[in-house]
Amino acid sequence: MGPRSEISDDRSVFLDACRCLETNYTPVWIMRQAGRYLPQYRKIREKHKFLDMCKNPRLAAEVTLQPVEFLGVDAAILFSDIMLILEGMGADLAFADSGGPVIGNPIESPSDVKALRVPDAAESTPFVFESIKIVNESLNGRVPLIGFSGAPFTLASYMIEGGHSRNYLKTKKMMYNEPAAWNELMGKLVDTVSRYLAEQVRAGVKAVQVFDSWIGCLSPFDYDTYVMEHMKRLFENLIKLDVPAIHFGTDTATLIERLRDAGGDVIGVDWRMEIDAARERIGYDRAIQGNLDPTVLFASIETIRERVENILDRIGDRPGHIFNLGHGVLPKTPPDNVKAMVDMVHELSLGK
Ligand code: CP3
Repeated sequence: MGPRSEISDDRSVFLDACRCLETNYTPVWIMRQAGRYLPQYRKIREKHKFLDMCKNPRLAAEVTLQPVEFLGVDAAILFSDIMLILEGMGADLAFADSGGPVIGNPIESPSDVKALRVPDAAESTPFVFESIKIVNESLNGRVPLIGFSGAPFTLASYMIEGGHSRNYLKTKKMMYNEPAAWNELMGKLVDTVSRYLAEQVRAGVKAVQVFDSWIGCLSPFDYDTYVMEHMKRLFENLIKLDVPAIHFGTDTATLIERLRDAGGDVIGVDWRMEIDAARERIGYDRAIQGNLDPTVLFASIETIRERVENILDRIGDRPGHIFNLGHGVLPKTPPDNVKAMVDMVHELSLGK
């Protein structure tokens, strides 16, 4: 009998860890756990376009559950994408054959910002809430479902650049040269994201994660000047939802105290910081999520084990750690290594 079966009646270990409560073992889930590294995902994806999958609640629910079944993770995350709310604001969204999101009508001027709508979430993304209901019926309380949204800066960067960017030049030009339009855009995004996450909670998600994936391109000064007040307002809105909020970013070694000050019950960290050092900087009143380098999953089982152990050792017996990768699992990752990693976290942390 493995450690999982001894503890399988403990349903809320993920939520307890989010609240810094003692748990029997360290909960683990994986960013992008529903995705291309899984053959069972690729099989469905062969027949459907990515956006169509996101908008089809039955398919989205099926794909959400795949990693829960295969990996035995402690949380499900809804299969969807951070880009979907932008359509309701007025963006022409597509996904390129290469996989990345493309906005056909990027924001170029203050008048483009004025024209953006703050949509009613239930009207603009009804499929998301329908998917949540189907997933929860299937999960039947086995593990909690995490909802999510992109953070305003990361979403603004896609809206302005029209896709992924190397240096965020257009985004920063708007920040520096059109501060009123920038603040209006960020304000509209805060309102849209707040409504969207509130509706997800109403539909049944038990925690929410805010992905500020590209925030690490900003200097600390610019974070304070152009982002902080908006993120504070967002997290003040999220507190009212009464579910744990996870605040995630990458390349945040220079910004981590600022992410903490902006808000979130759990702070996500990538692998560019050691997790104990990050935790000391964040403070022990918040939970921490992370922080295995996703490329470690391409190494031998021995190396994976060493790195998992290293992270768990650095956390020690303090509560409030959710094991995860430092960023999303990569498409070519061997699925068996991912499963081995999840098992190791459970086994090595049990009773700690
Ligand atoms: O974590 C999960 O399993 C839930 C699903 C999820 C997806 N996207 C599915 C997806 C989540 C949480 C996201 C969030 C997301 N989307 C982020 C923030 C997280 C991060 O990785 O920083 C960002 C920046 C996006 C935008 C996006 N969507 C990009 C850049 C890409 C292409 C690159 C890539 O990883 O494929 C996507 C497409 C996407 N989103 C896929 C999946 C499963 C691949 C689609 C396919 O099957 O081709």
